Amino acid sequence: MTGSRKLYVKSFGCQMNVYDSQRMADTLAPEGYVETAAPEDADLIILNTCHIREKAAEKVYSELGRMRRLKEAASADGRNLLIAVAGCVAQAEGGEIVRRAPAVDLVVGSQNYHRLPQLIARAEREGRIVDTEFPLDDKFDHLAVPGRAATRARGVTAFVTVQEGCDKFCSFCVVPYTRGAETSRAVEKITAEVERLADAGVREVTLIGQNVNAYHGEGPDGRAWSLAKLLTHLARLSGIERLRYTTSHPLDMSEDLIAAHRDLPALMPQLHLPAQSGSDRILAAMNRRHTRADYVRVVSRLRKARPDMALTSDFIVGFPGESDNDFAATLGLVGEIGYAGAFSFKYSPRPGTPGADMDAQVDEAAKSGRLHRLQEAIDRNQAAFNRRCIGRTLSVLFEKPGRHDGQIVGRSPYLQPVQIEAPASLIGEIAAVTVTDVGSNSLFGALAQKPSQVPVLAGAGA
Ligand code: 5AD
Ligand code: SF4
Repeated sequence: MTGSRKLYVKSFGCQMNVYDSQRMADTLAPEGYVETAAPEDADLIILNTCHIREKAAEKVYSELGRMRRLKEAASADGRNLLIAVAGCVAQAEGGEIVRRAPAVDLVVGSQNYHRLPQLIARAEREGRIVDTEFPLDDKFDHLAVPGRAATRARGVTAFVTVQEGCDKFCSFCVVPYTRGAETSRAVEKITAEVERLADAGVREVTLIGQNVNAYHGEGPDGRAWSLAKLLTHLARLSGIERLRYTTSHPLDMSEDLIAAHRDLPALMPQLHLPAQSGSDRILAAMNRRHTRADYVRVVSRLRKARPDMALTSDFIVGFPGESDNDFAATLGLVGEIGYAGAFSFKYSPRPGTPGADMDAQVDEAAKSGRLHRLQEAIDRNQAAFNRRCIGRTLSVLFEKPGRHDGQIVGRSPYLQPVQIEAPASLIGEIAAVTVTDVGSNSLFGALAQKPSQVPVLAGAGA
């Protein structure tokens, strides 16, 4: 063990990266690395990158420009600043990164984080290293687990990766190439991690994976367990009051998972279920393997199981060949489902994916116009959903102090931020809040006398 050195980790992209960044910090802690929020103080900077859209990768390169200047400043002070690039850009671009950004000392692919201490030591000794192999062993077996204090400091909610990679090959998406084939962690390992989190005070766990509902990890009985079975098992652990999972593919919303939303009070009535498009023609070109009717059917089965289910989605506008009519079908789907929120993106051709070579790429102006209209429709949905919460009493898990003195912030079952005036001693607790007002994103309210039995019905009506 060496003396204390400072580590700055910056995460781009999805929750998977946030989780991986924490595991990297945990793995480097025994090497004497202490996390800092100030990159200019750091001895090691890790950029944990995202490659999903072109802009995401470009952001990394512009960030690397800033990092180069920090490195020069450190070296003028007689310090050596190491710069590492991890995550999907690292996996996809490999050696190209050190050619474009020579300040980078280490490029480490998403499957190799457990080797970080050795890789950093080698980079210090030998100079630049690129390690983007896909080893066959389970990186989670080797990654350090955080201590109780570190877990506690991260709060009352936590992500746990249960599944990685994707075999779906949507024709716009790089994930199957950057994160590799779909793999699921064993139930016992996940259980041990969740028990440890609960012991450190975590009350809400979100199971994450690129295609989380395709989960099929080995159970203690030696059989493959479904996500529903895993959730049922985790819901019994003491201390775990809330469970969520993300991100799901409509094709894998199996009957038992839908039933789990009816049967497990700990499973929150909220689901991120990307539709991508409302047009069957475009869904087929995207190789989504579901139709609009399949999607609508899944949503109505979910709402039958759990009438107050809040749905969110991702949409892509301007996929090659998307006509005005196809786009109108997407707007129609948004109106029909009545989302609690959604992300929307302009299609970004990713080299190596089938979509990038398709004819009839949509021009930028049309993409921008459609994105704007779609975002307006989504905002209307979201505002309508939030408005329906006014007057309701919701259970809220309080996570942290609010922006103003005397305020605390938590999340409703539907994942909306909820702000109230209440003592900080409530952080970490679940309490009933009567909603009195809504802002653009958050709900406002006051502690309720007794919990309401009335769920907030989602559904169309934006
Ligand atoms: N262009 C635009 N959006 C994309 N996404 C994935 N790949 C692309 C791409 N090439 C979006 C999808 C996915 C979300 C994480 O990012 O909507 O669900
Ligand atoms: Fe990408 Fe499609 Fe897999 Fe989601 S399901 S990660 S969009 S290939």
